[in-house]
Amino acid sequence: MQIQIFQDKESLHRAVAQMFIDAVKAKPNIVLGLATGSSPLETYENMIKDHQEKGTDYSGVVTFNLDEYIGLEGTHSQSYRYFMNTSLFNGLNIPLDQTNVPSGIGDVNEICKAYEEKITSVGGIDLQLLGIGTNGHIGFNEPGTSFDTRTHVTALTQETIEGNARFFESEDSVPKKAVTMGIQTIMDAKKIALIAYGSKKAAAIRDMVNGPITEMMPASILQNHSDTTLFLDEEAAALLK
Ligand code: F6R
Repeated sequence: MQIQIFQDKESLHRAVAQMFIDAVKAKPNIVLGLATGSSPLETYENMIKDHQEKGTDYSGVVTFNLDEYIGLEGTHSQSYRYFMNTSLFNGLNIPLDQTNVPSGIGDVNEICKAYEEKITSVGGIDLQLLGIGTNGHIGFNEPGTSFDTRTHVTALTQETIEGNARFFESEDSVPKKAVTMGIQTIMDAKKIALIAYGSKKAAAIRDMVNGPITEMMPASILQNHSDTTLFLDEEAAALLK
């Protein structure tokens, strides 16, 4: 794992955005894996700014998001499809039919299978963006998830439900299940960039980087990935040896 530590969030987001912009310029039909949540938001803002000011072309890019809540339509303001449209896709020239977010509505087992097949059919993910949960989850792969998993349905832990409750009217209205790429799906990405900032992430970063590789700390499997870069601020990196 390569580790880059930044003094402030702004330079961290600029660096991640630049990695994605350079990758898109180098391979106009690149397949990107994308994340939701607070971690990538300003990275996406930087990518939109670059597209508007410098014209980086996304017309050939294909994207796959990590996950989606089960039971939320893509038009729901807390669905990950809605988040991606409003936080990134609408600000770029990417055709929406080249953007993939697993649907949380319908025959979810069939949706999972079709999602994996679609990723394979475009040659796999070239560059995957990740955040990390305070419990070490990546995507919605919570502690205890098998490292062999592919896209599947999962129940969210109480910790994740509480963490996400701030985006909903109440904790009760947070969906309890999600569709998520599996750990093996993520590990198959050719290159991975993980963003973490703030002291709340410090213990997870320590355990991911220095701890044993264990299914109880899903992100620890990234120690075995050949091309992963962590983009951290000093607070998230504070407990690293
Ligand atoms: C989001 C995702 C999650 C988040 C993680 C961190 O698509 O899969 O694993 O990356 O929960 O969330 P934030 O960035 O909100 O701290």
